Amino acid sequence: MNRMLNRKSVRTYDGRMLTEEDRAFLSDVAKTAENPWGIPVDFCFLDPKEHGLKSPVLNGETLYLAAKVRRVPHFEEAYGYSFESVVIRAWERGIGTVWIGGTMNRENFENAVGLKADEVMPCVTPVGYPADKRSLRETVMRKGVRADWRYGLGEIAFEDEAGKPLSAASAEKYGEALEAVRWAPSAVNKQPWRIVVSGDTVCFYEKPDTGYVRDATGDLQRIDVGIAMYHFVRAVSDGGGSCILTPEKPEIPVPVEWKFVAAFQVR
Ligand SMILES: Cc1cc2nc3c(=O)[nH]c(=O)nc-3n(C[C@H](O)[C@H](O)[C@H](O)COP(=O)(O)O)c2cc1C
Repeated sequence: MNRMLNRKSVRTYDGRMLTEEDRAFLSDVAKTAENPWGIPVDFCFLDPKEHGLKSPVLNGETLYLAAKVRRVPHFEEAYGYSFESVVIRAWERGIGTVWIGGTMNRENFENAVGLKADEVMPCVTPVGYPADKRSLRETVMRKGVRADWRYGLGEIAFEDEAGKPLSAASAEKYGEALEAVRWAPSAVNKQPWRIVVSGDTVCFYEKPDTGYVRDATGDLQRIDVGIAMYHFVRAVSDGGGSCILTPEKPEIPVPVEWKFVAAFQVR
């Protein structure tokens, strides 16, 4: 089974430190993480005790991985894409993570990574081993955001224009990759990604909600779309295909509030 489909956020850890091998593995994955825009995303491990790092939603965490990026065009989608590549590789190795963009003492994290004026550190994640049982708080939180629920394919993916159902041919060709997109994580499980397929071009849009753009994070929902794009590209490449970022914005009728993020040529 595709491991992207059964990934879950982990907020309850068993209190063990990462083994040296696992830390070296993650360090390597983080150092070599790439995104289609070629924007460097800079990861570092942080010891919670040394820097006074806290997140009220977590239990048993012993180490964090934080990432910062320069505030350049496309930084949000690039950040989401690179960070999620690390999240998925960690999950495949049995290491738990959860994207944290809000519930943390942000100032301490930003000081710990030595954030410069032109940089942002939108999110962090604990890295560790999942406990056998979720804390009560985590269980309640998951219910609150309906974390095990996703929109149906017909609500997020369309053919040639927004609202027109996918053709049988596209559903067949892109079905697995779009399923991987559906199960991507997003802030408050809002799933703001929308996709329009037109021949071999696949366009990604953000359908924004209010309250997700802040100076300290950029547009969190654009980060969500970057995460979704990683899931898509990874699933296509696992199936032997490839995705190339198109330089131009395709002329596709969509609602005015949708924001174009990127389009891929799929081979
Ligand atoms: C950009 C981003 C920011 C997030 N910020 C937080 C956060 O601050 N606190 C938290 O508990 N979960 C946070 N999450 C986790 C989401 O709530 C979670 O991914 C979603 O509910 C779906 O659950 P799942 O990841 O288990 O599929 C964030 C997720 C993303 C992608």
